[in-house]
Amino acid sequence: MAEDSVPPVDQMALATLNDDVSTPFVKAQFSDRHLIRTILSRPDGGAGLAGQTVKVGGWVKTGREQGKGSFAFLELNDGSCPANLQVIVDAAVAPLGQLVQTGTCVHVEGLLKVPPEGTKQRVELRVEKVHHVGPVDPAKYPLPKTRLTLEFLRDFVHFRPRTNTISAVARIRNALAYATHTFFQNHGFLYIHTPIITTSDCEGAGEMFQVTTLISDAEKVEKELIKNPPPSEADIEAAKALVKEKGEAVAQLKSAKASKGEITASVAELNKAKENLSRLEERSKLKPGIPQKDGKIDYSQDFFARQAFLTVSGQLQVETYACAVSSVYTFGPTFRAEHSHTSRHLAEFWMVEPEIAFADLKDDMNCAEAYVKFLCQWLLDNCIDDMEFMAKNFDKGCIDRLRMVASTPFERISYTEAIKLLEEAVKKDKKFENKVEWGIDLASEHERFLTEVLFKKPVIVHDYPKGIKAFYMRLNDDMKTVAAMDVLVPKVGELIGGSQREERYEVIEKRILEMGLPLEPYEWYLDLRRYGTVKHCGFGLGFERMILFATGIDNIRDVIPFPRYPGRADL
Ligand code: 4AD
Ligand code: MG
Repeated sequence: MAEDSVPPVDQMALATLNDDVSTPFVKAQFSDRHLIRTILSRPDGGAGLAGQTVKVGGWVKTGREQGKGSFAFLELNDGSCPANLQVIVDAAVAPLGQLVQTGTCVHVEGLLKVPPEGTKQRVELRVEKVHHVGPVDPAKYPLPKTRLTLEFLRDFVHFRPRTNTISAVARIRNALAYATHTFFQNHGFLYIHTPIITTSDCEGAGEMFQVTTLISDAEKVEKELIKNPPPSEADIEAAKALVKEKGEAVAQLKSAKASKGEITASVAELNKAKENLSRLEERSKLKPGIPQKDGKIDYSQDFFARQAFLTVSGQLQVETYACAVSSVYTFGPTFRAEHSHTSRHLAEFWMVEPEIAFADLKDDMNCAEAYVKFLCQWLLDNCIDDMEFMAKNFDKGCIDRLRMVASTPFERISYTEAIKLLEEAVKKDKKFENKVEWGIDLASEHERFLTEVLFKKPVIVHDYPKGIKAFYMRLNDDMKTVAAMDVLVPKVGELIGGSQREERYEVIEKRILEMGLPLEPYEWYLDLRRYGTVKHCGFGLGFERMILFATGIDNIRDVIPFPRYPGRADL
């Protein structure tokens, strides 16, 4: 096959998804190299490829000169898998001093060989040609070879994908996203893009970031007024006087029956004076600061002519599609301006939100359980090398946990039962920081006690008190609880929050008012109940919480590429 011809699709799929020794060994598509994964992830560790000429590109993890500087070993990583390819370069091929520095980028070509007996590599690359070197000054490069803490790396979000941990997290995150689409597509759900900018507060918790151009507009006006001061009263008076004078001149010429040409010229001057006056009057209205009306900010002058925010959840909007095309999901970024400095909260995080028509709370729990199990099995089937890295470096039990969750039915208990169990534990001397009594919002310590200590598996808690849940959840017949459910998992606590939605118009209207929310912004949402209402349910899975759960990494700031939290929004 010619180098630049595209292999048939089935061959491409084999080369990228199935690392089998019988897999045809082909170059990466759309990039001038072989992926290191296609060499090293074969069951024979790449040994069967000895004798083949390949081109690889990557960044040097470690490098050392050997044989008194006659050749160098480089450990090369291109991010396609956790393993490094061992690369050997002779001094005759390229200057070695530059190549061996950690962080150097190289693009090289050479022959794959089986290394001498006794080395741990199954294959290595003998370089014949160096195509590119992106050098690094080791005195200045911020990521030295030594082991760095994840906290330290947060100060270098632009370099941290070059570390073993962050690149493994990136591959796991990617796999979970792929698995998410696969799961919902396999079950006939439509992927709906819900808006990022919204005018409705889904959770009614008032934790939204505002989207406005009023501040930047005000700054522009302030700058402009400094450069070009507004006209004074006297300037305006003078302009008015000029208009009057020019007006009188026109009148005089007309009464004196002057020529058409003279009158036309005089009218033109009058118009010029009028234009000047209106321009000055317009400019005199420019005021520094945010526009106000009746003592409040005047949002009618804002970009959207009303107050707007970043979404906290795509749920309300995706419901409009569920109430038309039945089974849908949205998967996108969501934003919460909570000042939580915890290891489980971000200001910007991703959420997967399915919404299902003709379905109740039980269907919702079944879907959530099947989805979480599918994600776990997917990682076991597709990411085992990265999971082994996590088990070795972060959490010994993470692979067993995935196996357990993929194969064990989740416990299901009502909120009332959960409170009873927690109260019994307190009686037996279990100490919690937060008091346990019916009506409380379960704290993370309670959730983790239920899932990690009492049941040792995922627990779905359902039917919560209405007072602690959002207005859209369906009121139960006891009038005290709502058809809500949270999926709690070991390591993380709450992974999923969901509910059956209130589909009865009168009930939901009452609930909105009861919660002290205004009806007006929710009129369109109420319309879904006014016209063709349907029983429906849905949930939201915190995507980063799922990655925390899978990898065993402690802090949520390390499982999203660009973490945003109070005080930090780098890049
Ligand atoms: O329980 P929550 O607030 O539910 C909703 O937003 C619903 N509208 C979802 C729905 O029914 N469609 O959030 C859902 C999940 C939580 O269970 C948690 O995993 C995650 O989102 N989450 C966060 N993750 C990271 N940082 C934060 N600040 C989070 N807040 C919620
Ligand atoms: Mg919740």
